[in-house]
Amino acid sequence: MPAPTVAELEAKIAQLEQQLCQAQKLTALGELASTVTHEFNNVLMTIVNYAKLGLRQRDEESRTKSFEKILAAGNRAAKITNGVLGFARNRAPGFEPTDLARIVDDTLLLLERELTKYRVKVDCYVAAVPPAMANGNQIQQVLMNLMINARQAMPNGGRITIRLSYDAEAGTVDLMVRDNGSGISADKLPHIFDPFFTTKTGPDASGKGGTGLGLSMCRNVIEAHHGRIRVESTVGKGTAFTIKLPAAKNVPPPVIDMAAATPASAITSFATPVEPA
Ligand SMILES: Nc1ncnc2c1ncn2[C@@H]1O[C@H](COP(=O)(O)OP(=O)(O)O)[C@@H](O)[C@H]1O
Ligand SMILES: [Mg+2]
Repeated sequence: MPAPTVAELEAKIAQLEQQLCQAQKLTALGELASTVTHEFNNVLMTIVNYAKLGLRQRDEESRTKSFEKILAAGNRAAKITNGVLGFARNRAPGFEPTDLARIVDDTLLLLERELTKYRVKVDCYVAAVPPAMANGNQIQQVLMNLMINARQAMPNGGRITIRLSYDAEAGTVDLMVRDNGSGISADKLPHIFDPFFTTKTGPDASGKGGTGLGLSMCRNVIEAHHGRIRVESTVGKGTAFTIKLPAAKNVPPPVIDMAAATPASAITSFATPVEPA
């Protein structure tokens, strides 16, 4: 049998990467299932309790209030299902102008309960930015991965800062996720994007992490978007991941490479910016 050609091997790698990405998504969906079940229980409790109240209290005011609460709970449930369905749906693999603020919102909604449980506060700074040229599902997956990693780096709770901004010069929409958790040591930092690199002993109590596939998936997705992902971290202080995606209608000029290759000095307390190859 002739040895496979380079082209054949490359095609095989591309195929395996796609399968890996799909498997990652299924894992993330499994993780969501428990969150969503709990959310729905809360919503149902609200609906049932206010329905009872409305039946018991026959005055107009109580009934109106009950209906309003029931409606709000129903709307919240619909938002959650839409979020999950949007995440699960296999949209066309193409990129389209995508509102990243909306993706941040959807993701926070899905992770809200879990973040509260682990005493993680979220600060969100969302500037008015142009849409990014992106596949919304994939970017949401990236954001989920970054947020879950951040949460896991803060076992005693902490703070996640999300910042959405526009880099007019580079023509990119930038999404940063920063935590004030354990940080990553300089010897590990160059490896965190490698497939199967993990410092976790296995999935945590909520079934997340420990495969070492999260960041490698993130890198693949961002590279497919012709974007950039970078990390800055200081042990004991925390870690910031920034993804830079081309803004729609404004495909970044090649100069973006130079900009991204310059170590970010904006955050002086963070060391060793690393660009995955
Ligand atoms: N926010 C973070 N803070 C500290 N370490 C991190 C953070 N994100 C990623 N890491 C490190 O990078 C490794 C790889 O992450 P990832 O690819 O998501 O795999 P996993 O979460 O399954 O370990 C983690 O095991 C951890 O050591
Ligand atoms: Mg992870």
